[in-house]
Amino acid sequence: MKKLYLRTFGCQMNEYDSARIADLLADAEGVVLTERPEEADIILFNTCSVREKAQERVFHDLGRVRLLKKNKPELIIGVGGCVASQEGEAIVARAPYVDVVFGPQTLHRLPELIAAKRASGKAQVDIRFPEIEKFDHLPPPRVEGVSAFVSIMEGCGKYCTYCVVPYTRGEEISRPFEDVLVEVADLADQGVQEITLLGQNVNAYRGKRGGKKGDSAETADLAELLGYLAEVPGIERLRYTTSHPCEMSARLIEAYGKVPKLVSQLHLPVQSGSDRILAAMKRGYTALEYKSIVRRLRAVRPQLSLTSDFIVGFPGETEADFDATLKLVQDVKFDGAFNFIYSSRPGTPAAELDEQVPRAIQQRRFEALQTLLDAQYREYSETMVGSTQRVLVTGPALKDPKELQARTDNNRVVNFAGDEALIGRYIDVTITAALPHSLRGRQVMA
Ligand code: SAH
Ligand code: SF4
Ligand code: F3S
Repeated sequence: MKKLYLRTFGCQMNEYDSARIADLLADAEGVVLTERPEEADIILFNTCSVREKAQERVFHDLGRVRLLKKNKPELIIGVGGCVASQEGEAIVARAPYVDVVFGPQTLHRLPELIAAKRASGKAQVDIRFPEIEKFDHLPPPRVEGVSAFVSIMEGCGKYCTYCVVPYTRGEEISRPFEDVLVEVADLADQGVQEITLLGQNVNAYRGKRGGKKGDSAETADLAELLGYLAEVPGIERLRYTTSHPCEMSARLIEAYGKVPKLVSQLHLPVQSGSDRILAAMKRGYTALEYKSIVRRLRAVRPQLSLTSDFIVGFPGETEADFDATLKLVQDVKFDGAFNFIYSSRPGTPAAELDEQVPRAIQQRRFEALQTLLDAQYREYSETMVGSTQRVLVTGPALKDPKELQARTDNNRVVNFAGDEALIGRYIDVTITAALPHSLRGRQVMA
């Protein structure tokens, strides 16, 4: 049995792509996944370049697998994802033992690229953004368990001044509406109950209707898609990530009132609370506009848990700008967030700005914001005590295998006493206590 070692960095889009790569190569090359690079016949890195640490990892990891090729010359080493997309031929120039370089939009061509490398002995690089969608060339997804991801759009056209994603993944392209419905119905037939729709700006979804060949210009938006997906038999829970505040349309906000299967959890990155910095980032909204979106969402779904992303130390960020971020966090009250120190990315407009913030100041602001976010996370757990939550039972509890572990809509772990037969099912639990890293609960008997 031939083996594939596949290492994934970065966002859920990359995780999704990696799952598809594994399916594709299982069909084309007959490989099964392995955790051990030394026993692999194909080694692939699906990379991320959103921050510098992520990017450095690639060459570090490549250096380590290079030695394996000395003993196994037929070993295929490949680099995909966002670093591949940005660096292309430069990867082969720097690491000549790399056999294939492929981008997020050309991963469906991997079997051909590997075959071409074997036939010619020459490294193959394909990082184009072809017109035809990769999804048309991928096998239908295989699933395990009750939860699945469905990528519904690719790329990003927002061009925030700090971000590489529009350059690595190309412009926004949505999958056709009917294709998504068919994929979700197929997953539901395989027992999937929870769907997470994926895209860098998933709420900018505009799927063509009437199939691929339909020449009608009519499109469906995310609100409409969610409405349809909620009707697919077997689907219990709908999520989507990541959303851009500018695409939080009135229709999408209303969906929180109309579609109960839409979970009470939303990841809505704000990045900063300072209007000056938001403008310099080209985010397209002010702090007040962000807060107004949150207010409207909470008006239709009061229990909505909100998470976010922050960048501290963006070029030109003053103490007053940073205070505005702290104030926004205090005003909005988040249930959790990813907090990042600004990382200058070559080729982005922000990298050209003069007033880079000194590292020590970035670090201090990062810690101050993190302390506040951690406190809000704990407060949110406290507010859940006494409430009844719909949870997915994921397996035996880690600490006490006689108990069960489940996940809430807002990704908290709940431990409770219950029958093993509940594993893989959605049930209601009442939250009885909030601990630092988990919750305790009691099953609600019907
Ligand atoms: N499309 C999503 C997420 C993009 S990447 C959005 O716009 O919200 C995920 C997060 O990485 C971003 O939200 C941002 O907080 C962070 N990020 C992106 N580029 C960065 C950079 N150059 N430095 C630090 N953080 C960055
Ligand atoms: Fe990057 Fe902005 Fe696009 Fe998000 S919206 S992926 S931060 S350019
Ligand atoms: Fe990273 Fe590319 Fe995702 S840069 S965050 S893997 S889109």
